[in-house]
Amino acid sequence: MLCIFKMHINLWKISLLSKKVSKTEFYQELLVQTKALISGETDPIANMANISALLFNALERVNWLGFYRVVNQQLVLGPFQGKVACIRIPLGTGVCGTAAHTKTTQRINDVHQFDGHIACDATTNAEIVIPVKLNGDIIAILDIDSTSLERFDQEDQNGLEAIVNAFEQNLALGQVKT
Ligand code: SME
Repeated sequence: MLCIFKMHINLWKISLLSKKVSKTEFYQELLVQTKALISGETDPIANMANISALLFNALERVNWLGFYRVVNQQLVLGPFQGKVACIRIPLGTGVCGTAAHTKTTQRINDVHQFDGHIACDATTNAEIVIPVKLNGDIIAILDIDSTSLERFDQEDQNGLEAIVNAFEQNLALGQVKT
């Protein structure tokens, strides 16, 4: 099953690079794959781990991708792909803490222009952080970093928010706090 996923991902990448599929189509397919991956599983950590692996391998020009969970009013490092990262981030601090505090997606074209950006990896230049909600509360955030300035546009944001929304529906079905 996972081998088939891997083959699919590689084919999308080739198709996207050769412009056979649009970015919208790419994200539609990625959403289908995400739903299939988490369907029938309610353990949030296991689903965060597999979503991280799926997205990290599917997205181009991404050097870090993963979740931070809200634990005791702090963000704590969760399942991720990439180099080792900062473990604890106070709510309201950095791009991740701002997304969690304001409950809004933060799409940053140049992290060096973001006041308070936390540089876990000095090579990161752009970042998108999407809050994960359950019953109106932020229970985690999805953080994606890139070394390419302006890596994420509105289409990336829409596609990634749809994927996070599918995860939120899965969490609501399981009603398990992380
Ligand atoms: N850059 C983030 C910190 C997390 S790392 O990028 C993995 C921030 O400013 O919140």
